Formats: sequence, structure tokens, C-alpha cells
Amino acid sequence: MNFKTIEWKGDRVRLLDQRRLPGEVRYVDCRDPSSLAKAIRGMTIRGAPAIGVAASMGVALAAQKLQTHTLEVFLKNLKKVCQQMRQTRPTAVNLFWAVNRMERWLDPTRSFSIEEIKAKLKSEALRIYREDLEINRMIGENGKRLIQDGDGVLTHCNAGGLATAGFGTALGVIRAARTGGKRFHVFVDETRPLLQGSRLTAWELAQEKIPATVLTDNMAGWLMKNGKINLVIVGADRIARNGDTANKIGTYGLAILAKYHGVPFYVAAPTSTLDLSLPSGEKIPIEERSAEEVTHLGGKRITPKGIEAYNPAFDVTPHSLIRGIITEKGIARKPFEKHLKKIKNERWEKTEGSKQ
Ligand code: MRU
Repeated sequence: MNFKTIEWKGDRVRLLDQRRLPGEVRYVDCRDPSSLAKAIRGMTIRGAPAIGVAASMGVALAAQKLQTHTLEVFLKNLKKVCQQMRQTRPTAVNLFWAVNRMERWLDPTRSFSIEEIKAKLKSEALRIYREDLEINRMIGENGKRLIQDGDGVLTHCNAGGLATAGFGTALGVIRAARTGGKRFHVFVDETRPLLQGSRLTAWELAQEKIPATVLTDNMAGWLMKNGKINLVIVGADRIARNGDTANKIGTYGLAILAKYHGVPFYVAAPTSTLDLSLPSGEKIPIEERSAEEVTHLGGKRITPKGIEAYNPAFDVTPHSLIRGIITEKGIARKPFEKHLKKIKNERWEKTEGSKQ
């Protein structure tokens, strides 16, 4: 990978501006938590693990910049920043998971000094970043054997290096299989309305010369019928205890098509995407974004004035349609509830190399 999605620069956080890809590779510097929150909300950075990393760096940045000698004021301000980060996007649980990790250092009973807390927050944010990179590589290792020579592999949205600290989840599996010498073809759903597939996933694949074809979102069924797609791998924004999975709008439809055509449908995600507090996908909050993202394309109106548009950013795929969930600790199979609980509580090192 020859780009950095996000980078800690001491007094600022540098983001690769994903709104401009693939036309322009431009980095933006966020110098305060408000500009990071705006960047998350406005999709300068997006993708579940990446927004978790960005939010944690936002808290760390706020701490470095806060000028006060009063611990109470310091903690109160940083708790506000945590809240600000939580309010950026509602669906990806990684964001809340990362902010909660940061907030643990803001417990007044731990009697750290302001300077100590600043250092702890910075190291925690950098640890979240580094761990995510390592986790994605493990997801790739655990999932790569699912791809066979000659396969047609379909993915939706962008679950690549741009959506994570690097390497990617669904795209991490594809990268690892390719590096391992497998010869296969990737089909990339364009992913309306914001085109994360045709703009971002296609950009990542083109850079690494992984053979790929972009499809519009209504083509997958026909390709499956004609035997061109024999595996689907997507990322996830939140996975409930029973395996129900929220991911980019359109994922649910793909899973139904895959079931009908007997195509295995896999989800690739780090365990930070598991939300075991939710028994099923019913209670996963689904972000609704501006109608303008649907009525306009590249700043130009593509629908008549006065027409309404609906824009849920995610949908929930029921666990019954999912063959397996590829994590850094192995592939969880049905019954998901039992396996996801076990995986969430397992120490990472213990399961390294375990495949199923
Ligand atoms: O709205 P986005 O672009 O943030 O949605 C991203 C997705 O749905 C990804 O598939 C998901 O976050 C997994 S990223 C590894």
C-alpha cells in the first residue's frame, strides 16, 4: 500500500481526503477535534475501523492542545470531546469502542496528573492504530484460503486500507490471497450513492494491479446466475450477538442474491466490530444521510427538482444469510452467538493461526 489513510503528526492528524479520490490524492490536516469530527461526519475519512482510529486521535489531539492546570477542567473538557466524537456517525460500533477505550484514562479516581493523562491518551490512540493494522493482516491470513484459483469474488463498498488503519478487512482477505499466489478476479459493486466501490475499492485494486471489474449495483444477480461470481466478501459496521450484520446499504440485497444462487457470503471484520450487547440486528442504529447524496452526483442534480429521496447509509443482513465471519482470531461459523462470544473473549495470541 503506497498511501496512509490516517497519520498522527504530533500537533495535527493527517487524513487522505477520500471525497476527492480517485481523481485527486490530497491530504488534509486536522488541528483540533472539531475539524476531525467534521471530517468523520463529512466522509473525508470513512469506514468503521478508520473512523474509530480517527475519533481516538481526535481525543488525543484535544488533550495535547488543552491549556489548563486544573485537572477537573481538563477531564470535563475531554469528556465533552468524547461526546462530540460519539455524535459524528451512529452505526459503526468501532467508533464507540475506540472512544470508550480513550475515556478509560479520564477516570478521576486513577489519580494521574494532566501531563500523564496527555501521554496515556496519545499512546492509547497510537496503540488503537497499530493494533488495527495488525488485526487486518490477521483477518487476511485467516480468510485467504476461502479464495480459490479461478474464482470471481464480489465485494461491496470499501472495506480496504482506506476504511481501516491499513490493509483492510474484506480487501485484506483479497490482498492476502493475491500475495499468496492465488489467481482470481474481483468484482466491485460501485456502491451508490457515494460510490465507495468504484472510487475507492477500485482505486486500491488498480494500484496493486489486482484484476478487477466495476459493476453497477444492479448487476450482481445476473453475474451470479451466469456463474461469474462464486464468493462474496464484505466488511461490517456492527455485528450483533446472533451474527446479524450492518454494512453499507445494498449488502442485504446481495446476501439474498447469494443465498438464492448458492454463492457463499462472508463478512470480514475485526472483533471491535462485534456488539455483543445487542441480541440481534433489530436495534442497530441506521444512519440516515442527506437526500442530496442521492439526488446529486458529482455536485450535479440527477433527479427532477421537488422529488423526494431516501438515503439510509446501511442495512442489516440477517445471520441466516451469512456463511461465516472472518475475524483476526479465526472464522466464526454458526451458531454465531456461541462462536462470537468465545472469539470476543479469547486472547489474540492464543488463537493466532487457528483457522476455523
Ligand atoms: O459509509 P461508509 O463509507 O463509512 O461505510 C463503510 C462500510 O460500510 C464498510 O463496508 C464498513 O465500514 C467496513 S470497513 C472495513
